[in-house]
Amino acid sequence: MPFRIIRNDITKIEVDAVVNAANNSLLGGGGVDGAIHRAAGPELLKECRTLGGCETGDAKITKGYKMPCKYIIHTVGPIWQGGKNSEKEQLYSCYEKSLQLAKDYKCESIAFPLISSGVYGYPKDKALEVAVSAITDFLEENEMDITMVVFDKSAVSVSEKLIADVRKYIDDNYAEEHSDFASRSPFIQSNFKRTELSKGKKLSKAMEPECCDALPFDFDTLDESFSQALLRMIDEKGMTDVQVYKKANIDRRLFSKIRSDVNYKPKKQTAVALAIALELDIFETQKLLEKAGYTLSNSLKFDVIIKYFIENKKYNIMEINETLFTFDQSLIGV
Ligand code: APR
Repeated sequence: MPFRIIRNDITKIEVDAVVNAANNSLLGGGGVDGAIHRAAGPELLKECRTLGGCETGDAKITKGYKMPCKYIIHTVGPIWQGGKNSEKEQLYSCYEKSLQLAKDYKCESIAFPLISSGVYGYPKDKALEVAVSAITDFLEENEMDITMVVFDKSAVSVSEKLIADVRKYIDDNYAEEHSDFASRSPFIQSNFKRTELSKGKKLSKAMEPECCDALPFDFDTLDESFSQALLRMIDEKGMTDVQVYKKANIDRRLFSKIRSDVNYKPKKQTAVALAIALELDIFETQKLLEKAGYTLSNSLKFDVIIKYFIENKKYNIMEINETLFTFDQSLIGV
């Protein structure tokens, strides 16, 4: 998954480059700056003294020293002054310059804190918006594993309205029992239901016929593998492979594995990400997932949230992942 959001202490993350939210002096400070200097040790400050400071919006690179990374990229975010002093452009430039430096130093992975959203007062939701836009712009043209490390969940604040809509949808659709049943494929589910009914048992809400039972039977594609179905759907949608895997936020190497191995079975999160990238409706999504032995049910919160986005034709994978993150669910992508 080229871009993920996690909650952790950035000094613990093992990547090629860790980005530090520094100040213009580059001589250390509080927050993430202080944490990184403490974890890297005094050698870091010694090297920083040789850099001659750093302009706001710019970035400079040092070794990682005792941190579990090869490099530390120091960037200086803008201090929030209400948003009318080109704070957004300066913050965007922090990500852009840091990513360019990481690319110049052949880094394959990088971790960012939410720059300027602490001492510098940049509202966290706006800071995340700028970060996501700079990172997705970079990933349009480049390959790199990028992790946004937030210290507290409040940093990932998807719009209140969206959260309220999703919460209501969950309340209306989520049936907790039999979650193990829910993650089985429709074929196994209908067998299980047939046995239950033959024993005169009532089907619980979680087992009520769902849209996957009503999936139109299509003999032509019955024997298709997941990979074959995916490639057919890409053609039908008139998309290219690159467009699909970038929109699905999955790694190029993983996509070529799916493409080349006709019997490849992806993880559910990957299969869902591909359905979202293709902007499939709920029927097409169930049919694609079924090829890999999965289904979207009403008994897994993850499934219900994905169904919300598909039924509302909201296919922005970053927004979906931020919502999944808010509800403590695994993210979609690889
Ligand atoms: N790991 C991940 N994120 C962290 C960590 C950590 N160990 N510590 C703090 N954060 C988060 C904060 O919660 C905030 O969301 O990093 C984000 C950036 O906060 P700051 O570190 O305060 O950085 P910033 O807002 O850019 O202010 C920079 O603060 O520390 C000083 O020297 C620094 O003067 C500079 C100013």
